[in-house]
Amino acid sequence: MLGVYKLPTELFFGCGASRHAGEKLKELGARKVFVVCDPGIKQAGLLEGITTSLKEAGLEYTVYEDIKPEPTSDIIEEGTEHLGKSGCDVVLGVGGGSALDCAKAFAAMVTNEGRITDYTGLGKLKNKPLPIVAVPTTAGTGSEATMFTVITDAQTKMKAPVGSYMLMPVLAILDPELTVGLPPHLTASTGMDALTHAVESYVNVNSHYISEALSLQAIKLIARSLRKAVAKGTNLKAREDMLLASTIAALAFNSTRLGLVHAMSQPAGAHFGIPHGLSNAILLPHVMEYNLMGNPEKFAEIAALFGEPTAGLPVMAAAAKAVKAVKELMADIGIVEGLGAFGVREEHLGMLADEALTSGNVPLNPRQPSKGDIIEIYKKAL
Ligand SMILES: [Fe+2]
Repeated sequence: MLGVYKLPTELFFGCGASRHAGEKLKELGARKVFVVCDPGIKQAGLLEGITTSLKEAGLEYTVYEDIKPEPTSDIIEEGTEHLGKSGCDVVLGVGGGSALDCAKAFAAMVTNEGRITDYTGLGKLKNKPLPIVAVPTTAGTGSEATMFTVITDAQTKMKAPVGSYMLMPVLAILDPELTVGLPPHLTASTGMDALTHAVESYVNVNSHYISEALSLQAIKLIARSLRKAVAKGTNLKAREDMLLASTIAALAFNSTRLGLVHAMSQPAGAHFGIPHGLSNAILLPHVMEYNLMGNPEKFAEIAALFGEPTAGLPVMAAAAKAVKAVKELMADIGIVEGLGAFGVREEHLGMLADEALTSGNVPLNPRQPSKGDIIEIYKKAL
């Protein structure tokens, strides 16, 4: 079988890495930098080290903060217009998944005609975007190392992922110090997003030798450090584990894509405003339970990474321990709600299942679900 693993992104990581942003951007030949961040980032003082280093490197910059969580196509149009007028030659995204996805979308739409939703799908962008540099301040989405930007269509309210290798950042700066202020509930939900990426990539039909190694390492880091990062945000070692795990999981799923959790999570998030990490977390153990028989050996390995005793057990019993481990992790980090807490009711499940079935992640899942199966899984997650 032929395979390819493409990584055009330089990863620069470690405590204090973001204070070297200026010199790294200068290496890239940047002159004027369009900094994209959500308003909270500046207030939290997370931009200071970065902007100081830009100044020290003699780079001009402008800061654009007008973005929102779960960005819509309208927000992309506004930001693209600002970028176009700014004369900037590099886009630097600083923040969570929304800021990074906006940075990618602005960089792409300033060089491509039309609206971002014209490019929904894989490989549809025509022209090379401006160079993108990503500095994540959460450990979850992995957008800093993927070819995707997920934008919500302002008209249809549906999430529209745009994927292209041209959207991969040229540089990702991974500085655990930027994540220490993330409150426990966001540490928990974003961390569960990273875990979902690693698990869905590991068990899906596209997994391969390289992605598997990455998924396993990400799961191992999350199993040992998500509780610690939630328990004490200033635990830098735990923060480092989580930030690197998030990026490593992204390096896995960027190549394999995901599975049924993401397929089901996207419509639930778009219609009921459930944050992405949280809707994934709520669905993950139920989808794992459903998927067990599709790839039991791999679920048994996941259980072992969580420290579950699996030796001597029949493979399905060992695999089931992965579900138990994830449920216990969620209880410990305080994710106890179901989809019902966000207004999802039984009468919505048919519509959500129809939308979930349109996702390109469904055929990659280790078990092929029917609409009825998906409705049953949603019901368990209510
Ligand atoms: Fe995700």
